[in-house]
Amino acid sequence: MRKALNVYIRLQQDQAITGLYFWHQISQLMNVLLFGSGGRESALAWKLAQSPLLDHLFIAPGNPGMKKYGTCIGLDWKDRDAVSHLCEAENIGMVVIGPEDPLVDGLSDFFAQTPGLKHIHVIGPKKAAAQLEGSKDFSKQFMERHGIPTAGHRTFEEHQLEEAKQYLATIDGPYVLKADGLAAGKGVVILDSLSDALHEMDAMLGQAKFGAASSRVVVEEFLVGIEFSMFALTDGKDYMMMPEAKDYKRIGEGDQGLNTGGMGAVSPVPFVTETIRKEVLTKIVEPTIRGLALEKMDYVGFIFFGLILTNKGVKVIEYNCRMGDPETEVVIPRVDEDLLPLFADAAKKQLLTRPMAKKEEAACAVMMVSGGYPEAYSKGRTISGLEKVQGVHVFHAGTAEKDGQIVTQGGRVLCVTGMAPTASAALTLAYAQLDQIEFEGAYRRNDIGVDLGLRNL
Ligand code: AMP
Ligand code: GLY
Repeated sequence: MRKALNVYIRLQQDQAITGLYFWHQISQLMNVLLFGSGGRESALAWKLAQSPLLDHLFIAPGNPGMKKYGTCIGLDWKDRDAVSHLCEAENIGMVVIGPEDPLVDGLSDFFAQTPGLKHIHVIGPKKAAAQLEGSKDFSKQFMERHGIPTAGHRTFEEHQLEEAKQYLATIDGPYVLKADGLAAGKGVVILDSLSDALHEMDAMLGQAKFGAASSRVVVEEFLVGIEFSMFALTDGKDYMMMPEAKDYKRIGEGDQGLNTGGMGAVSPVPFVTETIRKEVLTKIVEPTIRGLALEKMDYVGFIFFGLILTNKGVKVIEYNCRMGDPETEVVIPRVDEDLLPLFADAAKKQLLTRPMAKKEEAACAVMMVSGGYPEAYSKGRTISGLEKVQGVHVFHAGTAEKDGQIVTQGGRVLCVTGMAPTASAALTLAYAQLDQIEFEGAYRRNDIGVDLGLRNL
């Protein structure tokens, strides 16, 4: 009862501070189950843990850095019986699905179809709508149907290998080849020479380089421009735009070398002006959400718009059916309102279209990764210096606990996010604190923000 009263007071205070009136129909505190274990889920857990409407946060499986936000449980999303059991035993009222695999596999549908779980608010689209990320061919066709600007493309199936190679010979490079399905961020290959492109087509389509994911290959027109990302929380008809971000995808400085999940991110993005934002809303975001509704695809959750600013306007490079990583680690710290009631509104399809309140401060994130990543890397290296870090967020991404110590467990290990009135100051802060953290073979890019004039090398 006392907790509930505090909630009431808190909402009144928010109202006084922002001058806006947001009515949320949450009458009781809620237990939330968050699926995932990376930097993205660390940032979401950090945010949800601050909600006065949260009773208890469960994180499946989480990581050692998330223990301060809730209870990490060794629950595998694929084990549907165990998921049901936990939700019933812990009276879970809301489920937030962080990564794409469970969404594309239909975890959200499972909740909607299971008696006893149907009442749970689920943040994450249904399987059919998650195809926006789960199939490149599906997303290209969707964009074509709804007049959404994107690169021209052709899709080839296994039996069309020769046709695909003949087609490549008729176009100019660079050649963009994309495995249709999920391939852990590795399914996009861009090649300058025709012979490399033909070889890659053989590997993908002919030799199943990415397994079933490359049983169809999309060949795309190569777009020239600068990339950025925008994010919306939607209930399938209304939407709230969140702060934008720019990710640094390649492993090497100067954007050289292999693609990674993302080595750093900044928000806001200096070149994203009001005019560009408006163009994205009218030509991309609104037609996407209208298209989902028209095609009766149930979408409650985040849409990640991977965009490129070309000399012919903004185009969609890709959709993701979840938040980005490390984009979440800069976007979520800039969100200046409670996410939990917004999630509840979205699940009840009562979201109001308006921008999410945001902090004017900038956020910049730098990833510390294991040496060798994105190829083979070692695990189990002891991480030291975490206790010395001050004034930044340290979001654990790939860590584990061994003999009471925090050790490396993934390629991307830690994400350090600095926040300051300017992006340059946020980067200085993040880099100064990164210097305090060590583990054998640690690597990071030192040029996050350099291309945008936010930092000098
Ligand atoms: P995706 O997984 O579709 O986001 O692609 C990964 C990266 O490949 C993107 O972030 C771009 O840098 C690059 N890329 C993808 N599609 C294209 C394209 N049509 N033209 C140029 N670059 C592209
Ligand atoms: N950082 C890119 C992604 O999350 O897909």
